[in-house]
Amino acid sequence: MSKGFFLTFEGLDGTGKSTQIKYLAAWLKQQEVPVTVTRQPGGTAIGDGIRALLLDSKNHKLSPMTELGLMFSDRAQAIDEVIKPAIAAGQIVLCDRFTDSSEAYQGGGRRLGSELVLDMHRVMCSGLQPDLTFLLQPAAAEALCRARSRNERVQSKTGTDENRFESEQDAFYERVAAKYEEIAAREPGRVVKLGAGSIEEIHAQILAVVQERVLR
Ligand code: TYD
Repeated sequence: MSKGFFLTFEGLDGTGKSTQIKYLAAWLKQQEVPVTVTRQPGGTAIGDGIRALLLDSKNHKLSPMTELGLMFSDRAQAIDEVIKPAIAAGQIVLCDRFTDSSEAYQGGGRRLGSELVLDMHRVMCSGLQPDLTFLLQPAAAEALCRARSRNERVQSKTGTDENRFESEQDAFYERVAAKYEEIAAREPGRVVKLGAGSIEEIHAQILAVVQERVLR
C-alpha cells in the first residue's frame, strides 16, 4: 500500500478509544503496514502545551470560543507537523479525536453550533477530511465513570489534572452524544458506528472494516 490513509476515532470520554487504537496499531505493525498514532488535543510539543491549558480544571474561566480556538490551533499544528507528512509518506494515521470532537463538544456540548465549527475547519485545517472515522459509543454514564477514574490516576501520577471536561453535567454529554449521532447520519460513508461489546469484540469489528476499506 503506497497511499496514506487518515483514520480517526471518536466518541464520548472513556469509550475505550485509546485501547482500540493501541490494538489496531499493534495489529497493523504485525502486518508490516506503516502506521502513525497521534491524538488531539496534544500529539506535538506545542499541542501538549495547548492540551494542558484546555484540560486543567483550574482553567474554569476558559470561554467556549477560546476553547474552540485552542482546539483548532492544536489541530492546525498537528496537521502540519504530524498528519500531512505521515499521509504523504504512505502511512496509515490513527488519530484519537479530530474535528468531529470539536463539532460534538464545542458545537453541541457548548452550543456554538455546527456551522461555526465547520467554517473554522475549512480555514484552519484547509478542509482535510478523515478517510474513515470510527464512532465508539457505550452509554454516557458508563463512559463518564471510566473517564473519571482514569483522570484520577493521571492526577496522582503527574500532579496535574485533566478533569475540566469531566466536571461537566450529564446534559452537556447528552448534547455531545446527540451531535455525534447527527454527524454519523449526515456522513454515513465516512463514519462507521461501532456497536457495544467487549474490547475483543470491538477490536474484531474494527479489523473487519479496516481489512475491507483500508487494506484493499
Ligand atoms: P482526553 O483525555 O484525550 O479524553 P478522551 O480519552 O476521552 O479522548 O481529553 C480530551 C477532552 O477534550 C475530551 O473531553 C474531549 C475534549 N475535546 C473537545 O472538547 N474538543 C475537541 O476538538 C477535542 C479534540 C477534544
